[in-house]
Amino acid sequence: MAGKAVLEHVLDNIVAAGVTDIGIIVGDQAERIGQAIGDGSRFGARITYLRQDQPLGLAHCVTVARDFLGDDDFLMYLGDNILPEGIGGIVRGFAAERPDARIVVQKVADPSAFGVAEIDAHGVVGALVEKPVRPRSDLALIGLYFFTPVIHEAVAAIEPSARGELEITDAIQWLVTRGRTVTAVEYTGYWQDTGNVDAVLDCNRRLLDRLTASRAGEIDADSTVTGPVVVEAGAKVVRSRIEGPAVIGAGTLVEDSRIGRYTAIGRDCAVRDTRIGASIVQDGTTLTGLHGLSDSLIGRSASVRAGSHHRLIVGDDSEVEIAR
Ligand code: G1P
Repeated sequence: MAGKAVLEHVLDNIVAAGVTDIGIIVGDQAERIGQAIGDGSRFGARITYLRQDQPLGLAHCVTVARDFLGDDDFLMYLGDNILPEGIGGIVRGFAAERPDARIVVQKVADPSAFGVAEIDAHGVVGALVEKPVRPRSDLALIGLYFFTPVIHEAVAAIEPSARGELEITDAIQWLVTRGRTVTAVEYTGYWQDTGNVDAVLDCNRRLLDRLTASRAGEIDADSTVTGPVVVEAGAKVVRSRIEGPAVIGAGTLVEDSRIGRYTAIGRDCAVRDTRIGASIVQDGTTLTGLHGLSDSLIGRSASVRAGSHHRLIVGDDSEVEIAR
């Protein structure tokens, strides 16, 4: 997204807020994540990988991280949440006030898709429910939680929910019920849980809006580039038109093509004779002879090309739309 993996955006955000000792909970993608992120030095952080063998819930993640966390206060940041305007203010607010726990909320149109909090006029949390059928508030928990070590007692005490997970929402409710101070702050900046394709594309646009142009790659004399465009080192743009904001990843070739606004092409791709806009193309993908792709999300090492008939090899949980 906007030239980086979601997790890279997340780590940049955490480090920019002054948190540099970071544990990442990993499951079956552990190896791929470890290779992509490394020891954290690239981000100015020290990263420890913490293995969770089964996805048993966010409160279970706290248990997995128990030794890593020791008796420190900590921030739990769900790795699919994008907050391009940063979290420095809320990190500082928690450190200064130090309630037993602090949640971060935002008003949403569909609260039943989230954890929902009831909050009084002073920001004190009265109740929390995970994905309620009939929400009693429109304040959703966004993927940021601040905890003092008392949370460890709570996660040890709760039982799995109906979906079989140890819910962090239940652990926080446990604190509330026992009279602990749980407060909420409302985040008014842009926030997106990148759980679906439209959210990912929307985030991509938001992040690209903040792009600073740079041209380390090669752009030939027959190409035009307008607006903020990043052409990374080793990328080549030949007889093409690129309209920013857009990113062309390192080692990618763009030839006889038009790349429209809000497009992020990954690394080591080849885009030939193609018109594409408002899309994300991930690393190692080839696009050939496609005229008019938009609002698309194309995964890693894919090959999409024009042919004489429609032939699709589509992975699990995909969505394909073909113009009539
Ligand atoms: C999780 C939390 C939920 C929170 C949401 C924010 O839900 O359980 O309380 O509102 O993240 O993104 P999940 O994405 O695991 O369904």
